[in-house]
Amino acid sequence: MTRCPLPPLVLLPVSSFVLLLFLPQLPPAQSQVVTTIEDFFSHSFPNFDSVDNGANFSIFNDAGYRQGALQLTPDTVNVVYMFNKSGRVFYNRPFKLWQMDSSSSSGAATKQFLSFSTSFKINVFRSNNGNLNTGEGMAFLLSSDLGPAPPGSHGCFLGLTNASLNGNPGNHFVAIEFDTVMQTDLGDPNDNHIGLDINGVNSTKTASDLKVQISPPGFPTNHTVWVDYDGMVPYLHVYMAIDDDPKPASAVLEAPLDLNDFLKQEFYFGFSASTGTNYELHDVLSWNLTAKMSHVGRKGLAAWKIGAIVGGVSVFVMVLVAGLWVGLKVRKRTARDATSSYSSAMRLPGTPREFEFKDLDKATNNFDEKMKLGKGGFGEVYRGVLPGENKQVAVKRFSRGGTSAPDDFLKELTIINRLRHKNLVPLVGWCHTNSMLLLVYEYMPNGSLDHHLFDGPNSMPTTTLSWERRYNVIAGVASALHYLHDEYDQKVVHRDLKASNIMLDANFNARLGDFGLARALESDKTSYAELEMVGVPGTMGYIAPECFLTGKATRESDIFGFGAVVLEVVCGRRPRCDIDGFLFLCDWVWKLFREGRILEAVDARLGEDYDPEDARRLLLLALACSHPISSERPKTDVTVQIISRTRAPPSVPHFKPSFVWPSFPAMAGTSSWLTAVSAVASSYEASPTRRTPHLLDGDGHVASKDLSLTS
Ligand SMILES: *[C@@H]1O[C@H](CO)[C@@H](O)[C@H](O)[C@H]1NC(C)=O
Ligand SMILES: *[C@@H]1O[C@H](CO)[C@@H](O)[C@H](O)[C@H]1NC(C)=O
Ligand SMILES: *[C@@H]1O[C@H](CO)[C@@H](O)[C@H](O)[C@H]1NC(C)=O
Ligand SMILES: *[C@@H]1O[C@H](CO)[C@@H](O)[C@H](O)[C@H]1NC(C)=O
Ligand SMILES: *[C@@H]1O[C@H](CO)[C@@H](O)[C@H](O)[C@H]1NC(C)=O
Ligand SMILES: *[C@@H]1O[C@H](CO)[C@@H](O)[C@H](O)[C@H]1NC(C)=O
Repeated sequence: MTRCPLPPLVLLPVSSFVLLLFLPQLPPAQSQVVTTIEDFFSHSFPNFDSVDNGANFSIFNDAGYRQGALQLTPDTVNVVYMFNKSGRVFYNRPFKLWQMDSSSSSGAATKQFLSFSTSFKINVFRSNNGNLNTGEGMAFLLSSDLGPAPPGSHGCFLGLTNASLNGNPGNHFVAIEFDTVMQTDLGDPNDNHIGLDINGVNSTKTASDLKVQISPPGFPTNHTVWVDYDGMVPYLHVYMAIDDDPKPASAVLEAPLDLNDFLKQEFYFGFSASTGTNYELHDVLSWNLTAKMSHVGRKGLAAWKIGAIVGGVSVFVMVLVAGLWVGLKVRKRTARDATSSYSSAMRLPGTPREFEFKDLDKATNNFDEKMKLGKGGFGEVYRGVLPGENKQVAVKRFSRGGTSAPDDFLKELTIINRLRHKNLVPLVGWCHTNSMLLLVYEYMPNGSLDHHLFDGPNSMPTTTLSWERRYNVIAGVASALHYLHDEYDQKVVHRDLKASNIMLDANFNARLGDFGLARALESDKTSYAELEMVGVPGTMGYIAPECFLTGKATRESDIFGFGAVVLEVVCGRRPRCDIDGFLFLCDWVWKLFREGRILEAVDARLGEDYDPEDARRLLLLALACSHPISSERPKTDVTVQIISRTRAPPSVPHFKPSFVWPSFPAMAGTSSWLTAVSAVASSYEASPTRRTPHLLDGDGHVASKDLSLTS
């Protein structure tokens, strides 16, 4: 009896064969060659014994070389010499965080920013001699000061700073600590955590839920750590795995971070560690480091974005020319350098790159129908395998013709290029050639959420998502939305939130995809009126009622879509479906809630396998998000807290409030405009199946300039 007339509108399956790509691609270890091509650096230290005897490393305090390792705190038979020690080691070649590139033909200098990708193997070993205490920890250190650790930097200070200098902005260091002692007064979550330390040991961000134990008792254990910094975004990712295991798909710690805020232009890479009233060994066994200057400065990117958003076709043409120019320049340099290590620099993690059309054509087998994953609002999506990389990707080819397509492309590119969040589908690169525009995303092997909720003609799923997975998916979507709305420096509205736009990665984590409709929302401007918006974004059932009147997507309308997704995931039904005489899932759930039977809304296919308290929490949250009055819907910070169970579920009125427009009662007046408005509103509320030609097309999709491109 459930009729679900809405086919998935946009499919953008993507994946997580990220590992191959993200492993640093360095020259063979035995070559011992430092590759320095203009502004590219790459080197592998397979071990540290005879490498250079001090020529390349500056060793300070209690650090030293031993048995092929950098030993940050001493290892001696005389235990007395192991307490209260601290040590530092730097690779003594300075690096620049930014530089001016004046080589451009126009003569105008652009600022370039450094990105790096490093991995190192560490061994943090607590003694076997009946002393199972840990002490204290080590750090990967970026410092503008190539000097020793200050006096008193033992104990909790990890060789980074001391009690009087802790937190001093003049320290000019940023470190990733691997801390094995819990100092509650410093806010440590436990005795096995990773933290981001900026000028002090009070971490600005910590990760405590590690899959590894940094210093396991009993036997020495190696760990590999990866630190990727993208200076263009700018953003930091830290990954950690045991022994030589491959780089994990998800980062253990990540944060938006601009090193320029804390370091001087020049800085050094190094390590530090300390012991205290307990001790352990802190060794670095091997180290790979790749760094490169970006060829498009962040400034250039920002200008590009403004162009894309503000400008019309003329700006687009200008930008396209600029883009081609940059592309040509990069290609020219690549040709000149003709080294494989240079092109590997173009593959630094988190840096979307430009592809040649022929490579994407090859990857998708000439855009073979068999490779087609789906059709989106702006074009078609194909699966592909990048030639020579064995990496699966999803290639989105934008529809040709249609004057808005190039503009849409730039909008999408400039925005997603800079968005980084573990619950967003990452962009791998792009390509524009002649009139063809393409975006390359990571391929998500598990496809889209709606495919897991409903598949087949009778809406029977191929696999029933377990309750834990469903909860996790909702938490992921909430977190991504919060990032877009509030955490990212440019406020972004997604505009098209729905189950078919939510991808599942290999671990069934939610990845929000398809930012085809996303636009940066200037923080003080919430209107798209100037942008000549035609029609309404989104898909029926996910669209907030006010959107029918304003044609504007807002953060509040995103929340409405989020509520629809939550209902869909918990109930296993489409937002619009005939059920008990209700045309909208939301109305049916609201009735069950009123009658005190809200849990009857939970997907029957789950049987008893769900947590009633959590289900109730999500359903109430979804109803609150479905509030017809936009200002009454919760904000993303609240939704995140409710889902993480740190805040009580919202209180919801027993009857769904009616939609009033404008939403300020004082203004609800008399004009004939209002009458027209309420007519449209009630057609949405009461009989959405009726064809309202200007709002809905035959499939129940909202007809808009954007969506009409599909056909
Ligand atoms: C180490 O130092 C030597 C001597 O200064 C230098 O030739 C070599 O390039 C350095 N190696 C690295 C990896 O910096
Ligand atoms: C280590 O330093 C702390 C103070 O920082 C002191 O209380 C302790 O006695 C010292 N331990 C040793 C063995 O020197
Ligand atoms: C460094 O790179 C080499 C060569 O690619 C690799 O074999 C080694 O495992 C890497 N070491 C670390 C610590 O990532
Ligand atoms: C910290 O280091 C500074 C600079 O070396 C020094 O002047 C100060 O005395 C040290 N503070 C402590 C508590 O050791
Ligand atoms: C670090 O934490 C300690 C203990 O809570 C506090 O006294 C100190 O002010 C903090 N320092 C900074 C720079 O936040
Ligand atoms: C740790 O790595 C070192 C150097 O790569 C190796 O010699 C040692 O056997 C490893 N230890 C363990 C426990 O795997």
